[in-house]
Amino acid sequence: MKQKKLLMTGSAGFIGSAVIRHIINNTNHRAVNIDKLTYAGNLEAISSIENDDRYSFKKLDICNFSSGIKKTVEWYLKNKDWCESIRETSYKGQRLGIISK
Ligand SMILES: NC(=O)c1ccc[n+]([C@@H]2O[C@H](COP(=O)([O-])OP(=O)(O)OC[C@H]3O[C@@H](n4cnc5c(N)ncnc54)[C@H](O)[C@@H]3O)[C@@H](O)[C@H]2O)c1
Repeated sequence: MKQKKLLMTGSAGFIGSAVIRHIINNTNHRAVNIDKLTYAGNLEAISSIENDDRYSFKKLDICNFSSGIKKTVEWYLKNKDWCESIRETSYKGQRLGIISK
């Protein structure tokens, strides 16, 4: 399976932690977990994968533009090689208006 790089939000939560454990344990994909760690966030739920080279965690609030989305976008712009393969596959950026069709 061609390795993909997945950006996931809320994966210290109930559903996300199960999804991200599944991805790391059963696929060869990489995953970045962005989570604010509210009362619902629990890093214990993903402790079994925290040392995997294909997993990384960033504590960010995705609703706070300056601390969340802005830093995330800046990171992607500095690491274009990391995410360029996503754009080269089936997703053509339609919803973002990157292409018109
Ligand atoms: N034991 C159980 O059966 C159980 C336990 C928990 C939840 N549930 C159910 O699961 C469903 C909810 O699960 P879920 O995984 O969607 O939600 P969740 O509340 O379990 O997890 C949400 C995650 O998103 C993070 N988050 C919230 N706001 C954020 C923000 N602004 N920026 C970044 N991260 C943010 C939280 O820290 C948390 O880790 C509900 O139906 C709930 O009733 C069941």
